[in-house]
Amino acid sequence: DKGGHKHFMAKEIFEQPVVLADCLSHYTDAGGVTLPQPLDFTQTDRVILVACGTAYYACAIAKYWFEQFAGIPCDVDIASEFRYREPPVSPKATALFVSQSGETADTLAALRYVTEKVDRVVSVVNVPSSSIARESDVALPILAGVEVGVASTKAFMNQLGVLANLAIMAARQRGRIDAVREAELLEILHGMPGLINQALALEDKIAKRTARLAEAKSVLFLGRGAMFPLAMEGALKLKEISYIHAEGYASGELKHGPIALIDKTVPVIVFAPRDALFDKTISNMQEVMARDGKVWLITDAEGAAQAGDGTWATLVMPTVDPALAPMLYAVAAQLIAYHTALHKGTDVDQPRNLAKSVTVE
Ligand code: M6R
Repeated sequence: DKGGHKHFMAKEIFEQPVVLADCLSHYTDAGGVTLPQPLDFTQTDRVILVACGTAYYACAIAKYWFEQFAGIPCDVDIASEFRYREPPVSPKATALFVSQSGETADTLAALRYVTEKVDRVVSVVNVPSSSIARESDVALPILAGVEVGVASTKAFMNQLGVLANLAIMAARQRGRIDAVREAELLEILHGMPGLINQALALEDKIAKRTARLAEAKSVLFLGRGAMFPLAMEGALKLKEISYIHAEGYASGELKHGPIALIDKTVPVIVFAPRDALFDKTISNMQEVMARDGKVWLITDAEGAAQAGDGTWATLVMPTVDPALAPMLYAVAAQLIAYHTALHKGTDVDQPRNLAKSVTVE
């Protein structure tokens, strides 16, 4: 049942405010973050995050949270690299495996590689009965409900919801934040479903611009800080369902190579809420515009005012705390990919060559 939508992917994008709110309600009580099973980060010397695809990008965003909120060194790895590299791991590490299906072969193999080596194996999964959940010491459900679309959307959102809770909890346990700051961060997190609803209301504005995107041979996505992995996720979504070549780059890397690609045929989508590094992002954008690149700036009202004219398009998102902004901007990334694919007429829910669950390596 597509719930009145044309595709499961659209249904799942629009379900996000509800499924995220439900997930968050399971991870918070009056005392702050609460988990279905206890987890103590006080003795952990490193967090190791391992996953594939979109789940990997959720991990790459969470790295910023574990480091910024909790001050814990954090490694992020692609499961297929991690498992064969045979990395040395500290016995005091907490290894976290993120998987919607809980059956991804490489992620499961990476989990088995660390099982005897680290203090604790934690999984963040959508399917609680899955192999990855069963083989971990602590399995945290993301409670997104069944995800049918091959392109992961609501599972990504809820993975971020659970990972944000974990980072906030770790910060509190390690004395990096007090109860007041914890409550503040949780308030921002719990405000997210409302902001996501506002972002979903921008669908028509987004759809209008995607006709031009559908003509592109190649699209670049840029972001700084936690928006960098979101840029990679935006690029993955677009290539999966519209078959347009896309790359996500850290804005600061632009002049180290990818700027050579820029001309008037290459749209550049910039995820940039008005944050401490916004000025730098603007100057990256200007470098693109000076080479006739078509910049689609995704920002907030303050960012739009500061950026001024000259962009090909500017989408004004609701204002959100920059720390958790990737959750909100993910909605823009999803809708951009979805509407571009509609223009291309591709099979959105079942894109060519892809499977929902990759159980072979
Ligand atoms: O089930 P998993 O979360 O372990 O799957 C990981 C990837 O295969 C998955 O996220 C894939 O990249 C999606 N098609 C992305 O939309």
